[in-house]
Amino acid sequence: MTQMNLVMVTLGVALLLVAETWAQNPRKRLAPPKPPKGQCCDEVRSLKVQVANLTSLLEELGRKQESDLMSIVRQIMELDQQNRQQEARVTEAESKYSEINNRVEIMQLQTLQSATQTSSDAIYDCASLYSKNYRISGEYKLPKDEFLGAPELSVYCDMETQGGGWTLIQRRKVGLTSFNRDWKQYKNGFGSIRGDFWLGNDHIFRLTRQPSVLRIEMEDWQGETRYAEYGYFTVGNELNSFKLLLANYSGNAGDSLRYHNNTNFSTNNKDNDKCVDHCAALRKGGYWYNCCTDSNLNGVFYRYGAHTKNTDGITWYGWHGPNYSLKRVEMKVRPVGFQP
Ligand SMILES: *[C@@H]1O[C@H](CO)[C@@H](O)[C@H](O)[C@H]1NC(C)=O
Ligand SMILES: *[C@@H]1O[C@H](CO)[C@@H](O)[C@H](O)[C@H]1NC(C)=O
Ligand SMILES: *[C@@H]1O[C@H](CO)[C@@H](O)[C@H](O)[C@H]1NC(C)=O
Ligand SMILES: *[C@@H]1O[C@H](CO)[C@@H](O)[C@H](O)[C@H]1NC(C)=O
Ligand SMILES: *[C@@H]1O[C@H](CO)[C@@H](O)[C@H](O)[C@H]1NC(C)=O
Repeated sequence: MTQMNLVMVTLGVALLLVAETWAQNPRKRLAPPKPPKGQCCDEVRSLKVQVANLTSLLEELGRKQESDLMSIVRQIMELDQQNRQQEARVTEAESKYSEINNRVEIMQLQTLQSATQTSSDAIYDCASLYSKNYRISGEYKLPKDEFLGAPELSVYCDMETQGGGWTLIQRRKVGLTSFNRDWKQYKNGFGSIRGDFWLGNDHIFRLTRQPSVLRIEMEDWQGETRYAEYGYFTVGNELNSFKLLLANYSGNAGDSLRYHNNTNFSTNNKDNDKCVDHCAALRKGGYWYNCCTDSNLNGVFYRYGAHTKNTDGITWYGWHGPNYSLKRVEMKVRPVGFQP
């Protein structure tokens, strides 16, 4: 072999080794370069040194990469931990906030109960509470009013929507309370004031003796919300079968209560609808049934998945038609001309 050939071969071996080292896991040790056959020379020796140097360089690089990787993993783990700590702190803050909120509500109730009433500053509803500077949404106890013949009554006030002052008369959101109830239960009210409830036709009658606005807020299973508002809303007393009168619709959900205008209230044991069918029994709720519905806010609560398979759900035809049961509904009233 000529000297030139030997150099080429050694170079080739060196390159191969380098290529192999890059391709392999850099942590793997390299086999020592094979000694070239025949006599040695300065170039070969120098090449060998260079190869050895490269090898150690690569090993060093590998170690460095590894420690870099380790430090990145450590950093990620630390970040993750910090994240979790922050989440815990937010949760704690939230529960503290709702606790404080509850305490404020309780204080409000106590203030109300100890307040002496004169007829001029009587509290009838959430709007009168609002004008006495109660501005937090939540449960309030309206005091008994001899003059109006109104018993003490727990109500839920929405003090935020469109200026607040709203007294809720109905809510559907949890779905565990049956709304398939009889006349007496619809008259007096049922359910829980912080969950699903019907305030009671007697109470709705009293609340709407003053000219009132009705606002209905709805949410579907996609999380979209719509509303329907009636600038005029009143419910008759029991002698008048809690007859519904309304006018002046506005909103983006459609006017699906208009069809129920001028109808009496019906329940599963009192058929006052304008139909041969017994709508309240068919639709499993108490409502101002016509023949039968263009909306049925007291229908059956169907969960996601089952919410499009029945015609007796919580419906508002003007938005989702007759076979779509809504996820959440609130019906609320406040006096016409209420000024926040
Ligand atoms: C080997 O590398 C070191 C550090 O990079 C350098 O100082 C040294 O001169 C190199 N040796 C040879 C023989 O290339
Ligand atoms: C409906 O609104 C119009 C215009 O604001 C008003 O004149 C009318 O009295 C309202 N109707 C009822 C029944 O309140
Ligand atoms: C509604 O009820 C009243 C009595 O409560 C009755 O006189 C009236 O005819 C009823 N209206 C309808 C449409 O059934
Ligand atoms: C509801 O009926 C009353 C009484 O008949 C009527 O004055 C009012 O305009 C009706 N409302 C609608 C929206 O048609
Ligand atoms: C609603 O369901 C009923 C009964 O399953 C069916 O006859 C009707 O066509 C459906 N309507 C719509 C608009 O899907």
